[in-house]
Amino acid sequence: MHAILVRNHGGPEVLRPAELDDPAPGDGELLVRVAASGVNFIDTYKRSGLYPTPTPFVPGEEGAGTVVATGAGVTGFSTGDRVVWTGVLGSYAQLAAVPAAAAIAVPAGLDEQRAAAVLLQGMTAHYLVTASYPVREGDTVLVHAAAGGTGLMITQLAKAHGARVIGTVSTAAKEELARAAGADEIIRYTEVPDLAAAVRALTGGEGVAAAYDGVGASTFDASLASLRRRGTLVLFGAASGPVPPVDLQRLNAAGSVFVTRPKLGDHTATREELTWRAGEVLAAVLAGTLEVTVGGSYPLDAAARAHEDLQGRHTTGKLLLLP
Ligand SMILES: NC(=O)c1ccc[n+]([C@@H]2O[C@H](COP(=O)([O-])OP(=O)(O)OC[C@H]3O[C@@H](n4cnc5c(N)ncnc54)[C@H](OP(=O)(O)O)[C@@H]3O)[C@@H](O)[C@H]2O)c1
Repeated sequence: MHAILVRNHGGPEVLRPAELDDPAPGDGELLVRVAASGVNFIDTYKRSGLYPTPTPFVPGEEGAGTVVATGAGVTGFSTGDRVVWTGVLGSYAQLAAVPAAAAIAVPAGLDEQRAAAVLLQGMTAHYLVTASYPVREGDTVLVHAAAGGTGLMITQLAKAHGARVIGTVSTAAKEELARAAGADEIIRYTEVPDLAAAVRALTGGEGVAAAYDGVGASTFDASLASLRRRGTLVLFGAASGPVPPVDLQRLNAAGSVFVTRPKLGDHTATREELTWRAGEVLAAVLAGTLEVTVGGSYPLDAAARAHEDLQGRHTTGKLLLLP
């Protein structure tokens, strides 16, 4: 099969096309012909080695396609079924071996590209607004990189839970997109001298109930300083780099605030929780209440360009690789 292989950690250039043996479905696994593979920031962390991943490996941990074979002991799925999955390495390829335990049936009426585009970021937004800081009606929350793949999802779901959303973005085009997703206020964080002061100005000095921060190093301090008393900083990523160690006394000084650093795997750890979150997200897409914005589709061999674009802040919404 044709795939992308990382032989050594490094920049986008280490994402090289390769011809590999077709994977064989092991016990409990489905062999899936990949129709679309989702590109996520975590793929860049694993490519660079920020998240240790033994080489060589086929990157990518989100995809959708059609089951072409099943391993021993598989129940609930058969050849010909359309499935979508996340949390399994190896989706930047024409074929992927996917544990049936990680697979979700793609509902009728949804195409594989949109399914692959929404599952990881949609379920992330779902747990962020229901578990990390459960949004309450009337809360004002801060969503960084609001025009990004995950940011557009958080913005929409926070609005659906009754929040007022302050989004941050870097450009006018991104502002337009974030506002269309429901953001009530936008701050161009690359242009304001004091981001926390701008947030406070929009909240009558009080600050936000929660800051959803996937940008990390460059926004963490401002996120902390933007919280209302006993507010919550949900640090869920490091698009600008990892946040250095934090003196816990700062949480006291900031107003008895909370900081959490969650990940999707801990919010989809059981089959029950996975199918619940996936079911809610896919149903919302089908119902038309959750918009999926595919900002770019690339041929599989252009994976390096997709990573360059994502890390270069050139993209909006979701990026897909089409094998
Ligand atoms: N913990 C979890 O469970 C989980 C799950 C999914 C995603 N995430 C995290 O969510 C974040 C967003 O991921 P995504 O895949 O949806 O990406 P994305 O938001 O589509 O792209 C990243 C965006 O971050 C902003 N950004 C600010 N400073 C940046 C910098 N120095 N370099 C690059 N980008 C910068 C850019 O938007 P502007 O140009 O508007 O600033 C950029 O478009 C990542 O940190 C990712 O790790 C975490």
